[in-house]
Amino acid sequence: MNVLNRLRAAFAAATPEGGEPKAFAAAVRPAGDPKFGDYQANGCMAVAKSLKKNPREVAAAVAAAVDLEPLADKPEVAGPGFLNVRLRDDWLAAQLGELLRDPDCGLTAPAEPKTVVIDFSSPNVAKPMHVGHLRSTVIGDALARIFEALGHEVVRDNHLGDWGAQFGMILWGWRNHRDQAAFDADPVTELARLYRLAVAKIKDGDHDVETATRAETAKLHAGDPENRELWRRFIPHCLKALHAMYDRLGVRFDVELGESFYDPMLADVVADLESKGIAEQSEGATVVFVEGMKAPFIVRKRDGAFNYGTTDLATIRYREKTWDPDQALYVVDARQADHFKQLFAVARRWGYEKVDLRHVAFGTIMGADRRPYKTRDGDVVGLESLLDEAVAHAREVVDANSPDIPADDRARIAEIVGLGAVKYADLSQNRISDYVFDWSKMLAMNGNTATYLQYAYARIQNIFRKGGTAPEAIREQAPAILLSHPAERRLAVGVLRLPETLELAALELKPNILTDYLFDLANAYSAFYEECPVLKAESDERRDSRLALCDLTARVLRRGLGILGIDVVDRM
Ligand code: ARG
Repeated sequence: MNVLNRLRAAFAAATPEGGEPKAFAAAVRPAGDPKFGDYQANGCMAVAKSLKKNPREVAAAVAAAVDLEPLADKPEVAGPGFLNVRLRDDWLAAQLGELLRDPDCGLTAPAEPKTVVIDFSSPNVAKPMHVGHLRSTVIGDALARIFEALGHEVVRDNHLGDWGAQFGMILWGWRNHRDQAAFDADPVTELARLYRLAVAKIKDGDHDVETATRAETAKLHAGDPENRELWRRFIPHCLKALHAMYDRLGVRFDVELGESFYDPMLADVVADLESKGIAEQSEGATVVFVEGMKAPFIVRKRDGAFNYGTTDLATIRYREKTWDPDQALYVVDARQADHFKQLFAVARRWGYEKVDLRHVAFGTIMGADRRPYKTRDGDVVGLESLLDEAVAHAREVVDANSPDIPADDRARIAEIVGLGAVKYADLSQNRISDYVFDWSKMLAMNGNTATYLQYAYARIQNIFRKGGTAPEAIREQAPAILLSHPAERRLAVGVLRLPETLELAALELKPNILTDYLFDLANAYSAFYEECPVLKAESDERRDSRLALCDLTARVLRRGLGILGIDVVDRM
């Protein structure tokens, strides 16, 4: 049950004359401070201003009119015209009783299920994954899980860069510099070496190499049998390395339709755009002029080659035909903002107006020096070594914290804690901002980290272990929920808020809305843990009620972290 939506509907129905119900409802929010109740309706001031009325009088009229039964009594007018809503304790207790029996933390099927295509990770293959691939992979995966948890249909698409200029470099390297034995032993490392060799030569200003690599790419695209054959040979090795990384990260895709998949459709895309008068000739290229953009969108270059953007147009058409999505998300670096602005504008002119195309942009991962994160020698940081380092740091934390856990278990726990720390550090940022990579901060036992949340979860499991009860037994028993202490109440309101939090995160496409919520919940749990003895509660009734609160908290933490792609452990 989505409490916020229920309250919003009630306030929408009580919108003062002259107000706009949608905006009035949108101004209902969770209260920032428990002093002001659990939720606040903040829309009265705006309505009063536009009607030139006294805001407190408007608020008093809404308070009298609004029907919040059975969730809450009449709201209270506060300050300049806020309405504070306090959920009723009996209603809260009853909801929690239901939640205890609900295997999915109060999440229900949506009234209008949507189909959402999520284009994420999408690395250029043929070079090992590096730190730059982390954000798209982790944010895209979390968004996919958020939409899925809300009951929407999700298509996870890895739009691999498997057809680009980097293959020309590899083909050139293969022809001129390959080490067959090295390839036989470890194909991906050898291909990466060849790729880097070509990049280095081009960077040094070797025009012959540059021309030669371009020619190899052109031959590949034109269907040269030898280059196609080599490409077909290289690709499975590249994919295998990528998939090993995805497996470790717990990331999966429904489809992996890389750029090469669309190649046979590109000529037709350009022809269609021309016949509809959308594309035109300009300086030998075929382009679409987009209002407000300096450079036109090139769909066919002067030399006849198609573009990244041509492929993206073919992709939009293919997705529409195949899944007819309501929304398509492109989880891609903010530096591609102009590309997507143009792409979406061209797509709309081409007739794809119904689908909500969104660039889910994100900033750069920075090192301590506030420059893009690099190794000491200035190389990009490989993703694999980054994850290994995270796990090593996590191992130190686990070793220090729980030396009594057997070493094998500590290794398993460190893998979960290490990966969780890296993912959470990324997801808890406002995704548009750059963020600084800092091991000690991301593994802090106290603070807005996965480690802190995992620790809260493990502490709850520990209470059950110590008490000799299983969470399942408490669910079965379904004790009455008693909310006499403010810390119990705060926790109760918190565990009810997962559904509304996910809906907000999906609406704004921001996983950090979910991390903030989980952090608040863990803090509410800490306060409860300090102030409300569980196993040593003054009565059995109180003990059982508190065990139920513990179980609910643990389940929401586990479900919430799971939606971020992060696992929990029973001890750490
Ligand atoms: N392969 C591209 C890159 O690494 C990202 C692709 C994003 N998806 C898309 N449909 N353009 O920059």
